[in-house]
Amino acid sequence: MTQTLNLTINGTARALALDDPRVTLLDVLRERIGLTGTKKGCDRGQCGACTVLIDGRRINACLALALSHDGASITTVEGLAQGEDLHPVQAAFIRHDGFQCGYCTPGQIMSAVALIAEGEAGLDAERVREGMSGNLCRCAAYAGITEAVLDATRTMTNQGD
Ligand code: FES
Ligand code: FES
Repeated sequence: MTQTLNLTINGTARALALDDPRVTLLDVLRERIGLTGTKKGCDRGQCGACTVLIDGRRINACLALALSHDGASITTVEGLAQGEDLHPVQAAFIRHDGFQCGYCTPGQIMSAVALIAEGEAGLDAERVREGMSGNLCRCAAYAGITEAVLDATRTMTNQGD
């Protein structure tokens, strides 16, 4: 039976006909919408490469059944920049070399956006590392990632050292 899924994705309302109720949000984004910025790493909730925001909260899209989020507002990495202007977290990842191959980077960035909004880690590097621990990086670019998150936190919250 075909079911209709309504989502707002990066500010645009979409209505999709789904034949399979088991399809994940990750597969909807990548294969139905063509938003391939969100990566499929493990496809089992272990790497964080597929992190997106659902109604502002970070989630592993590979574990989310799309239909269970009918009506939700989804933000992917493609929704962060304003035209040519990068989001402060994106700019900080570039400034601090927070990536090597880049495969984990969209998930890292989405997780960092949510972590900063959560306000739990602030400028405490250890808490940033803990808050980002669900996002694995095979290239081990962790030092740059942590610096980028701290830098973006300063920019977005007007906090000094
Ligand atoms: Fe979703 Fe790895 S692809 S957590
Ligand atoms: Fe290569 Fe993180 S930059 S996996």
